[in-house]
Amino acid sequence: MRKTDTVSWERVVIFDFGSQYTQLIARRIRENKVFAEIVPYNTPIEAIDRKHLIGIILSGGPATVLREDSPKIGKEVFALGLPVLGICYGMQLMAYLLGGRLTSSITREYGRARFRIKRSSSLFEGVPDSSIVWMSHGDSVETVPDGFVVTGETDTLPVASFEEPERLLFGLQFHPEVAHTEFGSRIIENFLVRICHAKQDYTPESFVERTVDRIREEVGDRKLIMAVSGGVDSTVAAVLIHKAIGERLVPLFVDNGLLREGEATDVLDTFRSTLSIPVKFIDASDRFLTNLSGICDPEEKRKVIGRTFIEVFEEVASSIPGVCCLGQGTLYPDLIESVSFRGPSATIKSHHNVGGLPERMKLKLVEPLRELFKDEVRAVGRSLGIPRAVLMRHPFPGPGLAVRIIGEVTKDRLDILRKVDNIFIQALKDDGLYDEVWQAFAVLLPVCSVGVMGDKRSYGNSVVLRAVVSQDGMTADWAHLPYDFLAMVSGKIINSVKEVNRVVYDISSKPPSTIEWE
Ligand code: XMP
Repeated sequence: MRKTDTVSWERVVIFDFGSQYTQLIARRIRENKVFAEIVPYNTPIEAIDRKHLIGIILSGGPATVLREDSPKIGKEVFALGLPVLGICYGMQLMAYLLGGRLTSSITREYGRARFRIKRSSSLFEGVPDSSIVWMSHGDSVETVPDGFVVTGETDTLPVASFEEPERLLFGLQFHPEVAHTEFGSRIIENFLVRICHAKQDYTPESFVERTVDRIREEVGDRKLIMAVSGGVDSTVAAVLIHKAIGERLVPLFVDNGLLREGEATDVLDTFRSTLSIPVKFIDASDRFLTNLSGICDPEEKRKVIGRTFIEVFEEVASSIPGVCCLGQGTLYPDLIESVSFRGPSATIKSHHNVGGLPERMKLKLVEPLRELFKDEVRAVGRSLGIPRAVLMRHPFPGPGLAVRIIGEVTKDRLDILRKVDNIFIQALKDDGLYDEVWQAFAVLLPVCSVGVMGDKRSYGNSVVLRAVVSQDGMTADWAHLPYDFLAMVSGKIINSVKEVNRVVYDISSKPPSTIEWE
């Protein structure tokens, strides 16, 4: 497990008991310009940077506190003299550990409830006496621990919130982090400002300033190599690193032959002309396509691409003397979802970027964005002056168009897909729809179908258009693009890409589908 980080702005730590809302708590805190960090519930308190800790949150979770094997935390967390806020499971755990009594219920209360304040509390400053909150729980607190007072109730719950103001311990049975809780943001702000006395100094500008210092410390006078893709994450990471160590950053852009139309030129132009970062260009497209020939299985494709990438990267890196560090644009959700954080979980798709490289090449990993969410990366990018077009680019997978060509990847099939994809994306941009969706692309199917073009029978390729809306790519809904727009794009594709005579629109959401087709 990684030791929790030690950058120097004050922070709130969230002990994660497995709630689906834990990341939301972190986001809400950060929206208040306070840094928030999620740690697994069993992280020893000594592993946390106490110097800058201003408060603790115990998250919700699906377990039942009364079961012996449920996740627990040591009581010492309540004796640090720091404010602690328990949310849902976290509140029940606080009550249980400090001598209160819980009742279990077979049915879960789920949804909106009317919350009434029974006693004034700094947590509820500015919150009306009666408001709507979001509940999602089975158990509840029956008797509060000694010294605690009940501060709020609902129609079904006599203890919907409690506190021990002397010891700065607070509990909420409902979820303030969820938008359905009318005054949730106010409650979180109160916790941070009135109870934890947060300085609220976590801004994109302060992030840039401190991160640049930290990168300088981490890299020293060595060289750092980094693969850039033109995507938001690697671009923002590279600009930060460049700001910190200048020409000692060695950025590589590898053309794997699986890029979209005009992509290589665009990316090089952005780096070299707009950002003044001299990127090294490596055209490895033939090598990738040769290695992919004859391969149809999706996981096999991903493995071959990952392996080829590592080979190319290693060759270049070993030809540059003095490279000791590897830069990566890893984001916070990647870290939280990672095996080392959560423990092993089922592999749905193996994501290949530069995984495995640091260990093999004995490089020190530098990940300046590892604590940020995607929207925060964009905010940092804006404060660094990175053009909007780069910051708003849709995500593009490392294995590129290979996972959007079902069946074998050949140069001809890549050319067809590039043309179709380009028409779709350009149309989205022209109609102001590009920024409305999380991601949009075309997929080439290994299916031909009969059509009629002019007076003649045709037998051509079928393509899929896919567009999704999403917050973070973890779940996604298919985008309800206007019919007229889809009709126009379909017509354009069939009229201008002669190999294609059928266009279909993907109306599946994630889950159960994934965003990419492979
Ligand atoms: P899925 O298809 O798993 O995709 O729903 C979720 C998001 O991840 C992107 N994706 C990848 N990104 N390397 C990446 O950097 C990969 O191997 C990879 N596979 C999928 C996908 O485009 C979507 O945004």
